[in-house]
Amino acid sequence: MLILGIETSCDETSAAVVEETGDASKPWAVRSNIVASQVAIHREWGGVVPELASRQHIRDICGVVERSLDEAGAAWPDLGAVAVTQGPGLVGSLLVGVSFAKSAAAAAGLPLVAVHHLAGHIESLVLQNGELPLPAIVLVVSGGHTSLYLVEKPGHYELLSRTRDDAAGEAYDKVAKLLGLGYPGGPVIDRLARTGNDRAVLLPTTRLTHADRNAPELKGDLDFSFSGLKTAVLRYVQKSEGRSQKSEASDFRLQTSDLNVADICASFQRVVVTGLLDRLFDAARRYQAKSVGIAGGVSANSRLRAELADRGVRREIPTFLPSLALSTDNAAMIAAAGLRKFRAGARASMDLNADAALAL
Ligand code: KG4
Ligand code: ZN
Repeated sequence: MLILGIETSCDETSAAVVEETGDASKPWAVRSNIVASQVAIHREWGGVVPELASRQHIRDICGVVERSLDEAGAAWPDLGAVAVTQGPGLVGSLLVGVSFAKSAAAAAGLPLVAVHHLAGHIESLVLQNGELPLPAIVLVVSGGHTSLYLVEKPGHYELLSRTRDDAAGEAYDKVAKLLGLGYPGGPVIDRLARTGNDRAVLLPTTRLTHADRNAPELKGDLDFSFSGLKTAVLRYVQKSEGRSQKSEASDFRLQTSDLNVADICASFQRVVVTGLLDRLFDAARRYQAKSVGIAGGVSANSRLRAELADRGVRREIPTFLPSLALSTDNAAMIAAAGLRKFRAGARASMDLNADAALAL
């Protein structure tokens, strides 16, 4: 069976055709995965402008879907279902995908499946690597989320922890902005960090020990926090440039009077990557996981990828990553998660609505 996936939750319009292989250990194969990125549009504004995003999705969606079918060598009658991201994300953007998917499913007489965006990121690991040894701990780390999930059974995701404030990708984007590096920040900081000294700037690491009053059901000690780190970079830059007030910057001792952007990037990246991997492997130990994985846009980070592999070897636990194309937002992961739900019997009705804050 072939399934069409549609993803429009943020600033990528994507459509993909994924095929069921019949092989239980590697259940899905990508036939096509078309992504129309709006990065060039939003870069001018330093971040995603929701109204521009939804308008661009409307312009792109038909062409992107047609190309995904073309590249897959498929026509509408060859499909068995349509899967679409219902949420979370920007509501105007989500509505374009949901409306298109409902119309297409109705017109072609196909069943519709609603997919959670983060379930898509988690299933990108299976799409790439085949079924993971379970139980698995998966870190989903993107521009909007930094969350740990326990996967005990295929298709069941238990939230273990999340960020209390900024997502890791958001911290990358904000730090890049204050360094004048443009949007999105992840790829450029990743590149500059390679030439910097990652111990040049002393930045704080955060370790949460108490439960979050807003999420008492979670223990809280596996939670993440990145806003303090971002503020520390800001203070460092202000002090280096001699612009900050003495009182504000008194906590931070300068190690160099010149602003060395590569050193700041490397130092920031070391703290982010270490924080992410520490919590991931803490969770793996606590739940006696048989594998760990990282998905989402930030899983494209070169240092995160390399250190995940290193730590996996040291701790003797298999580690999994999506390919770079499957790391950032794409519809193939939505099609894969949709196929999983379709086989479990899930069907969405024509009343399906976008949900900007959909829970997993
Ligand atoms: O998953 P994604 O495409 O969209 C969301 O669902 O948010 O993730 C986008 C995020 C952005 O914050 C971007 O800066 C970050 O992923 N990102 C990276 C890298 N490539 C993308 N962060 C660190 N290193 C990278 N190489
Ligand atoms: Zn995403």
